[in-house]
Amino acid sequence: MPSREIVTRSWEETIQRGREIGEQLKPPVLILLSGDLGAGKTTLTKGIVSGAGAATEEEVTSPTFTLVHKYDRGVRVYHVDLYRIGDLHDLETLGLEDVFTERAVVIVEWSEKLALRTDWPVVRIHLEHVSEDVRRISIDDPAGVLSAS
Ligand SMILES: Nc1ncnc2c1ncn2[C@@H]1O[C@H](COP(=O)(O)OP(=O)(O)OP(=O)(O)O)[C@@H](O)[C@H]1O
Ligand SMILES: [Mg+2]
Repeated sequence: MPSREIVTRSWEETIQRGREIGEQLKPPVLILLSGDLGAGKTTLTKGIVSGAGAATEEEVTSPTFTLVHKYDRGVRVYHVDLYRIGDLHDLETLGLEDVFTERAVVIVEWSEKLALRTDWPVVRIHLEHVSEDVRRISIDDPAGVLSAS
């Protein structure tokens, strides 16, 4: 489905939605996350990584300071957080040049800071804070990566 919108009413529900996404991913695929602080990007990523089978949701923590976490159980997943990156960067300046030579799932928080050239299929997910426990999640999937759903 090229694009759709879902609303979650708890962090658990966001993890569950992430899991459903993760179960459908076949690497290589790039997932670009956007949305304000606390919108739920890391929470959704916990679900995506666990759904893909690369780690448990508890093992997935925010790579705020290290920029990149790698999970590698069966499927290889890179979780990148560009929050602390000032300017527009590309994956090469982040030392991630190998990422696109591997068959991996790459998930990027604050992806608007990324200058990107890739022929990988891309899924764009935008999260919005609606109220304390409510989030609107907009999924743009032009390549049909999630077409099974
Ligand atoms: N429906 C919901 N979906 C996701 N998170 C929710 C929801 N309701 C409440 N929350 C809470 O909102 C917070 C989301 O934090 P999270 O770290 O996932 O956001 P983030 O977008 O990654 O932020 P940052 O930009 O700081 O990395 C968590 O504390 C979570 O418990
Ligand atoms: Mg985060």
